[in-house]
Amino acid sequence: MSENTFYVTTPIYYPNDKLHIGHAYTTVAADTIAKFKKMQGYDTMFLTGSDEHGQKIEREAEEVDKNPQKYVDEIVSTFKVLWDELGVDYDYFLRTTNEDHENTVQKIFQKLYDKGDIYKGKYEGWYCIPCEAFWTERQLEEDQLCPDCGRPVEWVEEESYFFKLSKYADKLLEHIENHPEFIKPETRRNEMINFIEEGLDDLSVSRKTFDWGVEVPFDDEHVIYVWIDALSNYITAINYMEDKEEFEHFWPADIHIVGKDILRFHTIYWPIILMALDLPLPKQVFGHGWLLTETGKISKSVGNVVDPIKLIDDFGRDAIRYYLMREISFGTDGTYSTEALISRINSDLANDLGNLLNRTVSMVDQYFDSQIPEPDESTFKEVDQDLKETAFNTLNIYEQKMNDLKFTAALEELWNFVRRTNKYIDQTTPWILAKEDDKYDRLGTVLYNLLEALRIIAGALNPFMEETPVEILRQIGYENSIDNISWGDLKEWGKLKTENKVKKGEPIFPRIDIEEYFEGVQNNMEKEKTEENEELEEVETNLVSFSDFQDVNLKVAKVLEAEEIEDSNKLVKLKLELGEEERQVIAGIKNYYDVDELIEKKIVIVANLEPATIFGYESNGMLLAASNNKGEMSLLTVDKDIESGSEIS
Ligand code: MSP
Repeated sequence: MSENTFYVTTPIYYPNDKLHIGHAYTTVAADTIAKFKKMQGYDTMFLTGSDEHGQKIEREAEEVDKNPQKYVDEIVSTFKVLWDELGVDYDYFLRTTNEDHENTVQKIFQKLYDKGDIYKGKYEGWYCIPCEAFWTERQLEEDQLCPDCGRPVEWVEEESYFFKLSKYADKLLEHIENHPEFIKPETRRNEMINFIEEGLDDLSVSRKTFDWGVEVPFDDEHVIYVWIDALSNYITAINYMEDKEEFEHFWPADIHIVGKDILRFHTIYWPIILMALDLPLPKQVFGHGWLLTETGKISKSVGNVVDPIKLIDDFGRDAIRYYLMREISFGTDGTYSTEALISRINSDLANDLGNLLNRTVSMVDQYFDSQIPEPDESTFKEVDQDLKETAFNTLNIYEQKMNDLKFTAALEELWNFVRRTNKYIDQTTPWILAKEDDKYDRLGTVLYNLLEALRIIAGALNPFMEETPVEILRQIGYENSIDNISWGDLKEWGKLKTENKVKKGEPIFPRIDIEEYFEGVQNNMEKEKTEENEELEEVETNLVSFSDFQDVNLKVAKVLEAEEIEDSNKLVKLKLELGEEERQVIAGIKNYYDVDELIEKKIVIVANLEPATIFGYESNGMLLAASNNKGEMSLLTVDKDIESGSEIS
C-alpha cells in the first residue's frame, strides 16, 4: 500500500427493491469523504455495488415469476440511476454476479478450506432470510424473532460447511484492543467486544437448499453463504488474487462505511476471514446510525419509505446531500422530516449562503462594472485580518472533523464562517464606502475579500455538493474548474485574478414556501386520486349489462353422485339433479373436497353453458366456486333448503 492512497467503501446493497433515503445516506457519506480525499490529493478508490445472491433474492424473483439474473439486472440499473442523480462519483461498481468476482470468491473459499479453517458438518439452527443471518437460540428474542430485523426466523437443518471463527476470536479481540480506531463510534466498539467475549460459534458458510449463489468449488451441492460472497467484494473489486500490484496499492481499506445493522458482519466475520487469508485488516469500520422517519424505522410495510428521486425532483440533489450530512450526526440515529429539510434550505442555503453570494456579486457588478477589484494593501484593516484568520481556522477544524467523519460538525464550522462573512459586509458597509470617492480603494479591498471568502466556501463545499460549488465559482469569476481546485488552493488567500469579471446569476437556492409546498403535495395527491378514480370508472364501463347477465342461466343443483376421475389430478365427475332433469358435470375440485362430502350438497351451476368434452367425459354446465390466492376454494351453496332446479336471479 502506498502512503497516498485512500480506499473507502459502502455496503453493497440488496437488489430486491428500489433504494430509499437510508441507503442514499450511507452512499452520500462515503462519496463526501471520497471527494474530500481526492481534493487533498489522495489516490482515491471509492467502491459501491450490489449484493445479488442469496435465498431472499431467489424467492423474490420467483414471486414475480422472473429469472433471478433478469430480476437483479433491472433493479441494479435503478441503483446506478440514483447514484447518478445524486452526483455520487464511485470509482467502481461491484456486482456479485460478475464472473471475476465469483471466481475469486471460489478461490477464497478453497484457500480457507485448504488451510483447514473450513470443514464439513451439519447445521441445525435458526436463519433469518431477509438478513441472511444465522442465530443461536440464545440470541433470538422471546417470540423467536430475528434480533436485527424483528421478522420470523426459519429453522434450518442441513449439511453445511463451517468456518472456524472461534479459532481467531482471541486474535481479533487483541486487534480491537490495540487499535481503538478500528471500530467507530466508540459505543459500537463496546457492543462488538461484548459479542465476541460471549463466545463465537463456528459459522455455517454454505447452503444446500437453494441455487442462487456461488457454488462451493469442490462440492456442487452447496452454494457459498451470501455474506462470505458479499464481504469478499471489498477485495475482489481491487483484484485480489488477480493483480497483486493493484490489490496492494489499495489494501487495506481506509474505511468501510456501514449501517449499525451490519456491523457484526464487518467487525467480526470479515476481519476473521481476512486473518485466515493472512491479509491485513481494514483500518476502520464506521457503523453509522439509522435514518428514521416520524413513523419510525423506514419500511415498505409501514409505508413510510422516502424516495430520494422524488426529493431530488422537488428540491435538487445539492439540498438533499447537504441536509443528510448536516442534519443527522454521523454515528447516531436521526429523523428525516421534509419540514426540517425545507427549513435547512431556507435558512442555511437560501439565506446564509445564497444571500452572501448574491450581495457580493451584485456589489461588484454595481460598483466595479463586474470587474474583480484589485485589493489595496494600504487600506487593510483588522477586520480583514480577522476574516482571513477565521477562514484558515475554519479549514483546519473542518479538515479534522472530516477525517473523523464528523460531517455535521465540519458543515457547522463552515457555516460559522459563512455567517462571519455576512457579518463582514455589515462591519465594512460597502454601500457607504461607495458613496465616497476616496474610499474607492477600500471598497475594492472589501469586495475582493468577500469574493475570496466565497471561493474558499465553494471549495470546502465541493465534497458535499455537486452543482453549487461550480455555480458559485462561475459567478465570482474564478476560471478554474472545480476539479482542479485542491485543498491546498483553499489555504491560500488571493488566488482570484483581477483580470476576470463576476457574472451575476440566478439565486443558487430559491426560498421555498413551506405551506405552498405542502399544498402542492396535497393537490398532487388529489390529482392522483382523481386519475385513479377515472381509471376505476373506465374499468366499471367494462361491466356487463343487465340483459347480458340475464342471458346466463344459473340454477340450484343437488349432487347425486360424485366420483374422482382416475389419472386426473383435479377432476371429479358429478351427477346432478336439477328438478326433473339429471345431468353430468366435470369439475376441477378434487384437491378441495372429498367426493363423499359432496353428496346431497345443493350447489349453484351455470346451466346454459355449451356442452364440452373434458378428459373424455361430456360436461353440461359449470359449478360456481370462490377461490383466493392462498389456494383455497369454496363451492357456492344456497343457505336455505330450496328444491333443486330453482332459478337464480
Ligand atoms: N447486502 C448487505 C450488505 C453487504 S456488505 C458486504 C445489506 N444490504 S442492504 O441493502 O440491506 O443495505 C444495508 C445498508 O443500507 C445498511 O447497512 C445501511 O448502511 C443502509 N441503510 C438501509 N436503511 C437505512 C436507514 N434507514 N438508515 C440508514 N442507513 C440505512 O445489508
